[in-house]
Amino acid sequence: VFANIVRAPEDPILGVTVAYNKDTSPNKLNLGVGAYRTEEGKPLVLNVVRRAEQILVNDPSRVKEYLPIVGLAEFNKLSAKLILGADSPAIQENRVTTVQCLSGTGSLRVGGEFLARHYHQLAIYIPQPTWGNHAKIFTLAGLSVKTYRYYDPTTRGLNFQGLLEDLEAAPSGSIVLLHACAHNPTGVDPSLEQWKQIRQLIRSKALLPFFDSAYQGFASGNLDADAQSVRMFVADGGECLVAQSYAKNMGLYGERVGALSVICKTADVASRVESQLKLVIRPMYSNPPIHGASIVATILKDRDMYNEWTIELKRMADRIISMREKLFNAICARGTPGRWSHIFEQIGMFTFTGLNSEQVAFMTKEYHIYMTSDGRISMAGLSSATIPHLADAIHAAVTR
Ligand code: LMR
Repeated sequence: VFANIVRAPEDPILGVTVAYNKDTSPNKLNLGVGAYRTEEGKPLVLNVVRRAEQILVNDPSRVKEYLPIVGLAEFNKLSAKLILGADSPAIQENRVTTVQCLSGTGSLRVGGEFLARHYHQLAIYIPQPTWGNHAKIFTLAGLSVKTYRYYDPTTRGLNFQGLLEDLEAAPSGSIVLLHACAHNPTGVDPSLEQWKQIRQLIRSKALLPFFDSAYQGFASGNLDADAQSVRMFVADGGECLVAQSYAKNMGLYGERVGALSVICKTADVASRVESQLKLVIRPMYSNPPIHGASIVATILKDRDMYNEWTIELKRMADRIISMREKLFNAICARGTPGRWSHIFEQIGMFTFTGLNSEQVAFMTKEYHIYMTSDGRISMAGLSSATIPHLADAIHAAVTR
């Protein structure tokens, strides 16, 4: 009965790792998926995460019972506090409902399904370009995906005018997907002043903001600074949704830990929204896994562990920034034609290099360097030892 099934293509991001794993070259380098590596090129488990796991393992009262449909209550509270701020009036007024979900993707999907069932507008505007999974998530959730201009390839910066025009032209009530910080894949964020204008426009047109916060702490190295965009929208008393992921900032990729918060006008609305989120989640995966959320809660509720986390997070962010400088210098040293300052101007985990898909294919074939075909490279996957190899490959790709 399945004989006619057509083979599906690999995922544009995770498929890069599949191809990398098949390569037998000793010089191969995976700059595809956004996953942090040490200077030695190894995956990193944060010390504070290991400490939290020890505490959990040694606690005899811990059992493996099902969590409630909405997940671990303590984790949900702490996650809302982390993104909205400890003094957030929305939290104090109980206007926020937070549910534990399967990392960023799961949070976006649950939020998307909830909106498709209960919100009066199905149109969701996502930036052009955006993370490769966004359009698929929201289409399958039942929303109608449109795009707004975001990136200007000529300046390698924000197309602010285009963004404002497209949001201005969106039907009133449309949902707008915004990257809270460290935009993926471009590494280009609006300035604080530009965020203020975006907020004014969104509120004046009664658009509904839906934030994807996958990199809190990775843009500036500071958790509060990276939450400013979200907090600005919550401070005006209006509604919004926020999807959080702990994949990058706590290195909990495979634990699939995230949260969806819906900020409502009143506590009563928030509790009704939560009742409907449970109806989305229960038939989808019943209830979320316990281990990762327990790690996060253990760290966030303990001042000493929280501080240790911020230090380790800043160390990761700083290493990425130092990779930006080193790559830029290596490319300049080779006299590679073109302007490369965007390598250190862009922020977060990625550099949107401007290399086209043919150049990427050339680098993969000749240099065994793996990256997404849109020219995005994960700076977190680089080390001092691999930078010369990448700079050689970029030089050869650009000058051939
Ligand atoms: C990425 O963009 O590389 C990450 O968000 C990982 C993923 O799931 O695509």
